[in-house]
Amino acid sequence: MKELSLNILDITYNSIKAGADRIEIGISESTTGNLIEIEIRDNGCGMDDEFLRRVTDPFVTTRTTRKVGLGIPLFKQSAEDAGGTFTITSKVGEGTAVYASFQLDHLDRAPIGDMGSTLVSLIQANDQIRFIYRHKTDQGTFVLDTDELHAQLGDVPLSEPAVLSWLHAYINENLENIQGGKI
Ligand SMILES: Nc1ncnc2c1ncn2[C@@H]1O[C@H](COP(=O)(O)OP(=O)(O)O)[C@@H](O)[C@H]1O
Ligand SMILES: [Mg+2]
Repeated sequence: MKELSLNILDITYNSIKAGADRIEIGISESTTGNLIEIEIRDNGCGMDDEFLRRVTDPFVTTRTTRKVGLGIPLFKQSAEDAGGTFTITSKVGEGTAVYASFQLDHLDRAPIGDMGSTLVSLIQANDQIRFIYRHKTDQGTFVLDTDELHAQLGDVPLSEPAVLSWLHAYINENLENIQGGKI
């Protein structure tokens, strides 16, 4: 995959399919630590131990439309290609956490990509889910919590076009301030 944001989108769709109503997406970039860390954590249906052991294998999926599930194996691959690590933990009835790290200056490390568009498309299609996004860089931290947005907007849905275009600009501006996703 060309950009890590596409991996994030894919992994977050797993959380949505798992029935989560709260999804946390965290990105941490550290130039001093030469490290990028990404975590997606949900409160969806979870997976049992046996399934979890097989889930990084590209031939495991519960979907019937396509025989091969690739979201998890591809994310694992992009981390390992970039000198990083990958872990996934899950508990039935509680949820799942997917963690990937990347050596920042590794030649095969994909760019982070467009997190503004990624977040807007996730929020647009899933107004009922609470998304909490935390993006940390050496310059600072940006946190977006859709519960706080709902509280500010009252009855206006986040899926309203005017809200979405404001949100897109707001996220981009805040990421710009901390130079998030630039590397
Ligand atoms: N967050 C999650 N919660 C519960 N089950 C999950 C989660 N992520 C993945 N799974 C299970 O692992 C399978 C493989 O996921 P993935 O590699 O993304 O392939 P795909 O989504 O195409 O099936 C999914 O079909 C699903 O059964
Ligand atoms: Mg998937």
